[in-house]
Amino acid sequence: MPSTRSIEVLASAPDLFHAAAEEFVRAARTAIGAQGRFAVALSGGSTPKALYSLLATNYADFVWNRVFLFFGDERHVPPTDADSNYRMVNESLLTKIQIPAENVFRVQAENPDAAAAASEYEAQLRRFFELRSGDRPGEFPRFDLILLGLGPDGHTASLFPDSPALDEQSRLVVANWVAKFNAHRITFTFPVLNRAAEIIFLASGADKADMVRQVLEGKNTPPLPSQRVQPSDGKLLWMLDEAAAAKLTR
Ligand code: 6PG
Repeated sequence: MPSTRSIEVLASAPDLFHAAAEEFVRAARTAIGAQGRFAVALSGGSTPKALYSLLATNYADFVWNRVFLFFGDERHVPPTDADSNYRMVNESLLTKIQIPAENVFRVQAENPDAAAAASEYEAQLRRFFELRSGDRPGEFPRFDLILLGLGPDGHTASLFPDSPALDEQSRLVVANWVAKFNAHRITFTFPVLNRAAEIIFLASGADKADMVRQVLEGKNTPPLPSQRVQPSDGKLLWMLDEAAAAKLTR
């Protein structure tokens, strides 16, 4: 499947999240139909919360027992922390749907050793995707869908500009030191992102408009982390509301 990039602009934020929920479920039905399961990595931050809530309300009776949920990145905090992506997803989605606990793969970010938490999560991915550990570098998982957001500096997942994880080419998950937060983040690496069958970038609101234009139309040397998301054999879909797309030349 050749790589494609498409941009979908919805009139408002509620329209955006409805369309994103429909695309999520469409991708899930396709994967479950083809292979009996849907492996998806969720994004954190504030933008996707409305999508997760909508999935919980409008698709409560979906075949969640065929859905396997991972996290594209996590803050180095316990799952009870206000900053935890797991906590946000748990409150907006997991506690409202019938999904088996064993279908939810959480980063053990309470581990004070961020590198150990990243290695443990990588091991979870290798087990789930039946990848042999270590002896055959270059084997990467193929997620059916990865949801991503766009940070004000062009970061995505926890791949921040000028951060060490940008150059990682063999690990699946790393602890990335983010100087501006004086903290580690646990994040998927580019090889995992770019191996996905489908990636959806979700961006909403006027405060994203400049960066959306920079990423989609700007020439950046080096490229911004979000510009390095180029699925090698998959679909790249940018889903925006009018406010986030306001500065695009159309
Ligand atoms: C995180 C995210 C991160 C996020 C962007 C956008 O853990 O913060 O995975 O990449 O998607 O920072 O965040 P907002 O949606 O809050 O603007």
